[in-house]
Amino acid sequence: MTRETPFRLGVLGSGKGSNFGRIADEIAAVNVPAEVAIVLSDVENAGILAHARDRKIPSQFIPPGKFRTKLDEQSEPAYVRALQSANVDLIVLAGFMRVLKGDFLRAFEGRIVNIHPSLLPSFPGLEGWKQALDHGVKVTGCTVHFVDAGVDAGPIIGQQAVPVLDEDTPDSLHQRIHAAEHELYPKCVAAIARGDISVIGRRVYWKK
Ligand code: GRF
Repeated sequence: MTRETPFRLGVLGSGKGSNFGRIADEIAAVNVPAEVAIVLSDVENAGILAHARDRKIPSQFIPPGKFRTKLDEQSEPAYVRALQSANVDLIVLAGFMRVLKGDFLRAFEGRIVNIHPSLLPSFPGLEGWKQALDHGVKVTGCTVHFVDAGVDAGPIIGQQAVPVLDEDTPDSLHQRIHAAEHELYPKCVAAIARGDISVIGRRVYWKK
């Protein structure tokens, strides 16, 4: 079924925003049937905000408040309001370094996706590439998943494998995982925007 209005993305990021940039490129190339309605960041000088400005996409820094790893009680409703006013259909976490909690999750239930730099459920949390290297696995990669109340824990939409090489350093492995993310994330967002994804329990099915 074709939608009458474009599928609207709200992107949240704290860092350089290369995944956002890639998704925006794929939208421009008409490979992802969506538009980025708004980009929000908890870091005032984050690269992702500069990227959004360069692309003339509405963007905003919303201070995260007093906590280090989550949004505080003033900040969380400010994020929810900004995303609701932008009428977003899907929230795309692209390097957003804060855990989203109750009211935010309830406001956008089943409509938040994240990308994580490991093959989940292995190596959730920080620096998944380094955890993988330290553990000695031979294959790692990246995962796009729906966000629920756990950390890097929701239903898995897609994964892309990346081999670990003997000569890898954390940096070299991270770079190849990043390249894999840039392929995987736009594909997953496109599938959701097309309505090609269904979720039953923990299983995510792609329309053939
Ligand atoms: C990516 O490595 C992603 O896996 C993690 O945050 C990083 C964001 O990178 N969640 P970028 O800002 O998109 O370049």
